[in-house]
Amino acid sequence: MRTVHHVTHPLVQHKLTLMRQKDRSTNSFRRLLHEIGMLMAYEVTRDMPTSLVEIETPLETMQAPVIDGKKTVFVVVMRAGDGFLDGMLEVVPGARVGHIGLYRDPKTLVAVEYYFKMPHSMHERDAVVLDPMLATGNSAVAAVERLKETRPKSIRFVSLLAAPEGLKNFHDHHPDVPVYTAAIDRQLDEHGYIVPGLGDAGDRIFGTK
Ligand code: URA
Repeated sequence: MRTVHHVTHPLVQHKLTLMRQKDRSTNSFRRLLHEIGMLMAYEVTRDMPTSLVEIETPLETMQAPVIDGKKTVFVVVMRAGDGFLDGMLEVVPGARVGHIGLYRDPKTLVAVEYYFKMPHSMHERDAVVLDPMLATGNSAVAAVERLKETRPKSIRFVSLLAAPEGLKNFHDHHPDVPVYTAAIDRQLDEHGYIVPGLGDAGDRIFGTK
């Protein structure tokens, strides 16, 4: 309960440092997020169930473990979550993908839903929610609340950066959902940005600023 997996692998930390630099190009920022997505996919799938299948090696027959990638659904919180997706899919290519569209009301910082699309039979699937910035936590709370209505088998939440306030808010509402994050930064500023942070993740991924 209230589990936080802090992904401290040096490769992840190194790439995150590069991403934080304000002069990093859109191209480089996106590529680094892609690479971190792959590395964090290893962490988030660490306890994924496997089943044994019979295969033939060049020498003999054996029972060997496989995962059923189709049972995993990556749930992208638009739009910054998209930046994480390709790296995750490279590691789990058979995964299904769902999308949740939320925007933050700039005055109240409360999340408002505008899009929701999941694969069928969610009760058979392990959901991995992707949202690089766990800031106030309001959109993460709303996304997981909505996702829970589809009754997935399990839910994990993956962020690149988290603010302590966002983590607390998230786990106050969803203590059962483990969070995977590469860093827990100092605090939020008065605009709801994570500091020191890396700025607006969506703008930096898509070059929209
Ligand atoms: N969303 C972002 O993209 N960056 C922040 O710092 C907070 C929310």
